[in-house]
This record gives sequence, structure tokens and C-alpha cells, in this order.
Amino acid sequence: VPVVLAAVVFLTFTAGLLIAAEDPVMKEAQSTFVPIPLTPPPVKGVTATPALVELGKALYFDPRLSQSHNISCNTCHQIGLGGVDMLPTSIGHKWQHGARNSPTVLNSIFNIAQFWDGRAADLAAQAGGPIQNPVEMATTHQHAIEMLKGIPGYEKLFKAAFPSQTDPITIGNVEDAIAAFEATLITPNAPFDKFLRGDENALTSEQREGLQLFMSKGCSTCHSGINVGGQMYAPFGVVEKPGAELLPQNDKGRFDVTKTASDEYVFRVPPLRNVELTPPYFHSGKAWDLRQAVAVMGNSQLGEKLTDSEITKITAFLRSLTGDQPKVTYPILPPSDASTPPPEP
Ligand code: HEM
Ligand code: HEM
Repeated sequence: VPVVLAAVVFLTFTAGLLIAAEDPVMKEAQSTFVPIPLTPPPVKGVTATPALVELGKALYFDPRLSQSHNISCNTCHQIGLGGVDMLPTSIGHKWQHGARNSPTVLNSIFNIAQFWDGRAADLAAQAGGPIQNPVEMATTHQHAIEMLKGIPGYEKLFKAAFPSQTDPITIGNVEDAIAAFEATLITPNAPFDKFLRGDENALTSEQREGLQLFMSKGCSTCHSGINVGGQMYAPFGVVEKPGAELLPQNDKGRFDVTKTASDEYVFRVPPLRNVELTPPYFHSGKAWDLRQAVAVMGNSQLGEKLTDSEITKITAFLRSLTGDQPKVTYPILPPSDASTPPPEP
């Protein structure tokens, strides 16, 4: 009996391996997508020591980097909400609304460039922007540095993160530290990652059919790679322009960066990792229902009216892109004292 049992186990095991190797859906997926790694990737030009990441985390959560002392990075990119604020467009300084939906910071390290129009090359280049943006944190870099120098506890954190520098509280170092922290905000182990690593049982049959449709219909010509998007630019409305509700006329996307006519209404193809957690959708933040976003994509990008059942399957597949959310211990921030500049209205 043990021999028979061993043989059965052996056959089942090898059969499993053979199915994995020959499964055409898995094969195609493996040549189109890449699993999220289990540990944070390196940040270009930055040596991410634990002290640097700790500093970056404190800065990410510190509302005193804003003029009102009320808005931190986490206000619009909440780590507990999939890295977004779940608003159509973000609310910043003095309750002003920005022009675009806040993209997730989770896995943002893997995108080719930052922002809906790709105007920042990487996370460090991005991080200084919101501090000075009048509808976001609305201060100046100079004032942000005065602020950090005026909070006694920060000196120790900066010295630990940049041990070789005599005057380490600089905006460049703030940006590098935030980028090093953001690089830790990755979400591995989604069912889809397990599938890409060879586990053919990781997806439900509905999700698997959805994946097949996602590839055969052409979604993956744009939404591909490690973030299932975030790797290239495309017009919103390749075949059919969506209505002004979803695609407001005044936001020409990448055109504002390149000033090239062919870039009108071109946007960075958004990453779809954890997409079920990050409504509302599109740069305008006008679609609350993931099914609606999928249907719109069919019409606007592929010129194809997807059936209800196709939408259901593709949406099920998109839910398989939700990974382990980062476990972040809320930082205890160094307190202000009498020397700290007060908030300004
Ligand atoms: C975009 C990080 C503060 C709203 C981004 C992106 C990153 C990021 C990495 C690009 C993500 C991508 O393109 O995939 C940060 C950091 C902040 C901060 C580190 C603190 C220093 C804020 C605040 C708000 C905000 C306070 C809201 C008031 C937005 C919006 C975009 C964006 C609307 C998209 C803008 C566009 O594409 O033009 N942020 N953010 N961010 N963030 Fe923030
Ligand atoms: C946006 C899915 C095909 C380019 C989106 C979003 C979803 C999605 C869910 C919203 C993401 C978010 O706001 O966070 C799909 C599906 C497709 C498909 C299921 C196939 C049926 C394509 C193709 C292209 C493309 C073929 C390129 C030609 C874009 C762009 C956006 C987008 C540029 C951003 C639109 C904007 O807000 O400006 N897609 N997509 N997609 N997709 Fe697709």
C-alpha cells in the first residue's frame, strides 16, 4: 500500500507540474506580467538603510510639512485605504479640490514615471512637489526646512539617516527619505502573483477566464508588466472618446508636459494592482464602479462593447490583483516646542 500511495503522490505531483508548464494561459501570463517581489526593490541613487526608511515614514505622516499643519502625504494617500483618499479629486489646503484623482502610492516604485501625465521621473523627484503645491500642502521648501529644523527631534532622525553629512536637513534628503519609505509600500502575494509563480489553483475559474479575456481582448497590450499598467502612455479614448464627464476637456494630460499635439488626452496607463481598493476610477475620479470602468475601457480603448458576463469575469480577474497590504506601524513624531514655527492659515 505505501508503494501504491507513493506512486499516486508522485504521479499527482508530476502531473501538477506538467499542467503548470503546459498551461497556455499561465504561459502567456508569465510572458506578459511579472510578480511583485517579496522584498522592497532598491531605489535609484538612494541607499535605503532602516534609519532612512524610518525618517521617510515620519515625514510621510507629518502634517507639519503643510502650511496649515493639517495635511500630510497620508491625507491623500492613506496607507490603510489602498494608498488613496477615495475622493474623486483630492481635498488639500483650505479645502481646495485638485484637478485629478489621487493615484495610489502602493507599488508606485514600479511605475516608469510618476503622476497621471508622467511629469516626475521617479519617487524622489515627485516627493518635493506636493509640499509646494498650492492646492495640496501649500508651503515652500524653504519653510518646510525651517519647520523641520524647528522641531528638535528631527535632527537626531536626519543624523541617523545621513551619518556622513554635517547639515543633513535639506529638501533633497527629505525627498530621498520619503522615496525610500515609499519603496517599502509594495503588496506581494496577490492570488495573481501566486498564479504567475506557478500555482494553477490560485485563481478561481471565473478569475482565470477573466485573465484570458484581459489578454485576448487586448487590455494587456497597455496594462502589462509588474504593475499591470504604469509602464506606458496612451490616449484615453483610442477608439472612442469618453464623454466630458469622465474626460474633462480642460485636462489634456501629457500634452501639458510634452506640448506635442499627439499627446493631447494621453495619460500614463494606470497600474491595476489593488484596483478593487482604489475607487473612484480614472484621472477624473468619476467612475465609482469597477464594472463601469471596465465597460468604459472596452468602448474607449478597444472599440468593443463587452458583454455583462465578460465584464463580470474581467472584474473578477482584477480582484485577484489585491496583494498583502503593507503593515506600517504608525510613527510617533517628534513633538513641536516653543521654537517650532506655528501653523499658518
Ligand atoms: C500623485 C506621493 C502629498 C494628491 C502622487 C504620486 C506619488 C505621491 C508617489 C504619483 C503616483 C503615481 O503617479 O502613480 C505623495 C507624497 C506626498 C504627497 C510623498 C507628501 C509629500 C499629497 C497630498 C495630496 C496629494 C497632500 C492631496 C492634497 C496627489 C494627486 C496626485 C498625486 C492628486 C496626482 C496628480 C497628477 O497626476 O497630476 N503623490 N503625495 N498628494 N498626489 Fe501625492
Ligand atoms: C484606465 C482596465 C484596456 C489604457 C483603466 C482603469 C481600468 C482599466 C480599471 C481605471 C484605473 C484607475 O483609474 O485606477 C482596462 C481593461 C481593459 C483596458 C479591463 C480591456 C478591456 C486598455 C487599453 C489601453 C488602456 C487597450 C491602451 C490603449 C488606459 C488608460 C487609462 C486606463 C490610458 C487611464 C484613463 C484616464 O483616467 O485618463 N483601464 N483597460 N486600457 N486604461 Fe485601461
